Amino acid sequence: MSKKLFIKTYGCQMNVYDSARMADVLAPLGYEPTDQVDLADMVILNTCHIRERASEKTFHELGRLKALKAKRNITIAVAGCVAQAEGAEIQRRQPLVDIVVGPQAYHRLPEMVAKISRARGHALDTDFPADSKFDHLPQTDTPVGPTAFLTVQEGCDKFCTFCVVPYTRGAEMSRPVDAILAEARHLADCGAREITLLGQNVNAYHGPDADGQSLGLGDLIRRLSDIDGIERLRYTTSHPRDMADDLILAHRDCEKLMPFLHLPVQSGSDRILAAMNRQHDAASYLNLVDRLRQARPDIALSSDFIVGFPGETDADFQATLDLIRQVGYAQAYSFKYSPRPGTPAELMAAQVPEPVKEERLAKLQALIVSQQLAFNQAQIGKVFGVLFDRRGRREGQWIGRSPYLQSVHAAINGEPTGKIANVKILNAGPNSLTGEIIDTMEPACAA
Ligand code: 5AD
Ligand code: SF4
Repeated sequence: MSKKLFIKTYGCQMNVYDSARMADVLAPLGYEPTDQVDLADMVILNTCHIRERASEKTFHELGRLKALKAKRNITIAVAGCVAQAEGAEIQRRQPLVDIVVGPQAYHRLPEMVAKISRARGHALDTDFPADSKFDHLPQTDTPVGPTAFLTVQEGCDKFCTFCVVPYTRGAEMSRPVDAILAEARHLADCGAREITLLGQNVNAYHGPDADGQSLGLGDLIRRLSDIDGIERLRYTTSHPRDMADDLILAHRDCEKLMPFLHLPVQSGSDRILAAMNRQHDAASYLNLVDRLRQARPDIALSSDFIVGFPGETDADFQATLDLIRQVGYAQAYSFKYSPRPGTPAELMAAQVPEPVKEERLAKLQALIVSQQLAFNQAQIGKVFGVLFDRRGRREGQWIGRSPYLQSVHAAINGEPTGKIANVKILNAGPNSLTGEIIDTMEPACAA
């Protein structure tokens, strides 16, 4: 009889990718995915450690699973970055956890499940194995929608002073080109039309090709552009320091590469950027934005911002607002600085009081929302391709993605899932656009 697997995913897109791969790894053991936790024989929490609140969600959720475990003997696993950072401490805090598995060790989940069912004990694996998990993962078997993620690079060597990623995800590594091309072809065969290449520092990609030559992300994108069926490519998340000229030119040359780039700057103050160990200043970031706009005039940008980093003064914060005004973002994510265990910034003097962080965050978010609305409204009257991937709330209404990752609503007869259609934008709010179909750019996708 098949067993049911429930996975709850927190945090970034890499975790979404990893969750799908964990389901692939457990499928041969008879585990089928379910979206109902009450039916599960095994529950995996794929966790995020980036900020305190994200971490605490894990323990909150484990508390809720206690009741379920009291009723039925389910297996509970904690995966992801909290697992990596806290390891055995998790089982001490919450003994109902059977398995703790880090982000580089989840290909060994089948052995861990076998071990606990034999011995009824606990299993912990937070190794960074010498051989990559990618060498052991089966081809994906979970349903693939029109938009898919593909991890090409993992880990980070940048050591920004606020960030846990270099500790939880480990050192930077790039997957070989051929493995990525094979996975992309498989995704295309399964119906993916748009692929987002993932990496904590994706633009530091430098994987070997079949001849042993090291390729940068620009060249990888050029090779992926040749795959039939893949119509759109994106990549995230990039570090400003690794935006090589060749990658900037890929934005000019590759039609399939979408004109939208997530390029976190974190702060607009050189003093704070230095304290963050970002290895760039505001001027070099602005210069980079100029070069990107020269290569691809219609490119739009998004960023991450941290407010209230230790030592941040009002003047530093104003410098961040100035930078935001100079760049003009299509969208952005912003966070209050959250001290993370084991990071250098945690120990810095002059931690900023919570109410100051809150006030700055509200100001920054108001500015971003106004830029986002302005960007969305600037699309009114334009026509662009929209990749439809889900039903809207109203009868006959469908939702798709613009090249800029905006949600676009349109009325359509028939089933457009997986099709890219030209849409004229008629209306825009802060979070979505509405439009009308002009024509269908291509025949129905076979998948
Ligand atoms: N506090 C607040 N925000 C953080 N981020 C990373 N670490 C922290 C932290 N300690 C934010 C950064 C990063 C995004 C993924 O999360 O802006 O780009
Ligand atoms: Fe964290 Fe990104 Fe800095 Fe790496 S580059 S340490 S992932 S914020």
